Amino acid sequence: MINGERSNCGQLNLYDVGRDVTVKGWVDALRDHGEVLFIHLRDRSGIIQVVFSPEFSPAKICERATLLRNEFCITVTGRVAKRSEGTENPHIETGQIEIMVTDLLILSRSETLPFPISEKAMVVGASVGSVESVNEDLRLQYRYLDLRRPSMQENFIKRHRIIKSIRDYLDEQGFIEAETPILTKSTPEGARDYLVPSRVYPQHFYALPQSPQLFKQLLMVSGFERYYQLARCFRDEDLRPNRQPEFTQLDIEASFIDEEYIYELVEELTVRMFKIGNIMLSRPFPRMTYWEAINSTGSDRPDLRFGLRFVEATDLFKNTTYGIFKQILYRGGCIKGINIKGQSDKLSKNVLQNEYAKQIVPGFGAKGMTWMRVIDDELESNIVQFFSEDEQKGIVKRFEAEHGDVIIMIADPSHEVVTTVLGLLRLHIAERLGLIPGDTYCPVWITDFPLFEATEEGIISNHHPFTAPDRTDFDPGDNENLLTLLSRSYDLVINGEELGGGSIRINNKDLQRRIFQALGLSDSEVEEKFGFFINAFNYGVPPHGGLALGMDRVIAMILGTSSIREVITFPKNRSAHCPLTQAPSPVSREQLMELGLLDLAGETVIPGGEKERDMVDHLSWVSRIGINEGERQHIVDAMKETARLANIINERVRDEEPIFSVTTVTNRVRKEPQAVRNPLAEKGEIFRNAPAVKGEFFKVASILE
Ligand code: AMO
Repeated sequence: MINGERSNCGQLNLYDVGRDVTVKGWVDALRDHGEVLFIHLRDRSGIIQVVFSPEFSPAKICERATLLRNEFCITVTGRVAKRSEGTENPHIETGQIEIMVTDLLILSRSETLPFPISEKAMVVGASVGSVESVNEDLRLQYRYLDLRRPSMQENFIKRHRIIKSIRDYLDEQGFIEAETPILTKSTPEGARDYLVPSRVYPQHFYALPQSPQLFKQLLMVSGFERYYQLARCFRDEDLRPNRQPEFTQLDIEASFIDEEYIYELVEELTVRMFKIGNIMLSRPFPRMTYWEAINSTGSDRPDLRFGLRFVEATDLFKNTTYGIFKQILYRGGCIKGINIKGQSDKLSKNVLQNEYAKQIVPGFGAKGMTWMRVIDDELESNIVQFFSEDEQKGIVKRFEAEHGDVIIMIADPSHEVVTTVLGLLRLHIAERLGLIPGDTYCPVWITDFPLFEATEEGIISNHHPFTAPDRTDFDPGDNENLLTLLSRSYDLVINGEELGGGSIRINNKDLQRRIFQALGLSDSEVEEKFGFFINAFNYGVPPHGGLALGMDRVIAMILGTSSIREVITFPKNRSAHCPLTQAPSPVSREQLMELGLLDLAGETVIPGGEKERDMVDHLSWVSRIGINEGERQHIVDAMKETARLANIINERVRDEEPIFSVTTVTNRVRKEPQAVRNPLAEKGEIFRNAPAVKGEFFKVASILE
């Protein structure tokens, strides 16, 4: 690195003892011992102790040093010395040395900090401030200070390394990096779009991409064959710790490939990325179908770090006399359970009955829970007497129950309720009993998702509508049949977190149309939304497929951070707000007007625009006339008519040579009693869209004169 005469604080070591060096950085911490002042000086590379003492520092430097406070930005020159025995600091890499200062320059001062930045104690045993108790919004408001903390810098240095490893690997594999538009048309990824109004086309909007899906497929039509992009995506959806309105995907697409190619490529890439965090993953990653995952863990993003897999128990009770089970099975329901091995001493009758069965499970959405503790060879429970001897034996055998185990079962008429609730219980119990091993990473591919999902509004795509189905012999009008279709899609899941997803795509125009039809989109809707895309299907579409990894999630997992916000430089908070910039923020009326978002004729009222009613009230106040409800409608109609006529006139006179108006420009619709010139007029902005301007006048069509 080109660094002139400057040494990096964290890179000095015993070999530098006796050298004169210059270091630059921030005051991390100070320790004042009367005549002698110790400072931890911090730059990106680390921390070094610098010492001011009358023994070796000139008097004026010692005096200047008394001004120093935390986070002053300074330059220090001095000689590197070995610390005397017993004064070494094992908390920092350079703890065996220090700099005896001969010169000091204060580059910039700092005010008192809103929270501590220093993370390293100056002496053994001393405590350091922590941001853990600091309100996250305060950290985000002063994010530039929060990012000074060495642990945060470490996150971003690692992020950089991970991203670089991606670029190196994909380059080796023949991929080219290409950018796709940010101002674009909506892509269907299931969230709401962020919209950007167009000034040039009033009432028209760009959408920010939810993903580059359509463009990357078009790049395959263009013959790019291997594409990738570190793409910023925008989704207006409910936020969670692992979701941001704006996030980064590693977006990949390739032609003439199949699923196996994607698995191989992405597994190798994942292994390399995790290695940067010293996490060794072994390949091949296991695979599980969607239904296997649901039936054994209750989730399509299963956490496989621990057991507690579901055991199917429905058939054990087919002849039961136990009323609740009988009823449920009569209604076509099912029964599944989990054996919590050797935990009966931690799960007492009281906990199982009063906490789990009465509170936790109903909170998860099931009516109740059946539990049994295994004591010697016997089942112990509040209801075990209702089960026949055969049923009890069947349970012991099926669940491989032994002394000390706890068996829990959920029964419900709905298969979905059983798997969902048991899935939540599985996670709850694993966490409560500490059954999740730390530093363990269990990747798994989830495959064979249902292509469609039934909702109250009708059938929707499980992934997105460009995913290839497992078969093509379906009738787009037959919902029951459509719901049996599987997709050629795959998700990469690690430790219960969905890190990425993708699919093999449809490359046949007719099939793509039938999928749109199945989704209930009319030909005109398809044309309006995806016409440009479908059109490309006329020109030789290669078979292709791809995937996108959520990079913020991948990096947060590699670094073990509590949320993805810790690996994003300037994230939004949990309410999609930026405490630093205060975005989103209101804009001026002028901006709204310029964008066509204030419809003065009151035809449409757009969020953020002034209401039609207010405009009439305002005009009535300006002109000092009281209006009643009947007159109001009349005025609104007149305004609309005027707008309509103005449009017609504009159409007709478009090609007429304009003449000059003699009207001076003032703001007639004003709140102020004094005549005040509109600021837009002051700056000449008001003429911006005028056909022609001369001095303070603008040209108008002769017909209006
Ligand atoms: P999908 O919608 O599954 O697929 O997104 C891919 C990955 O992006 C991450 N992700 C998010 N990360 C942070 N905040 C969010 N709000 C957020 N939403 C999604 C997840 C997810 O697995 N176009 C397809 C990919 C393809 O088919 O190639 C797509 O976007 O880790």
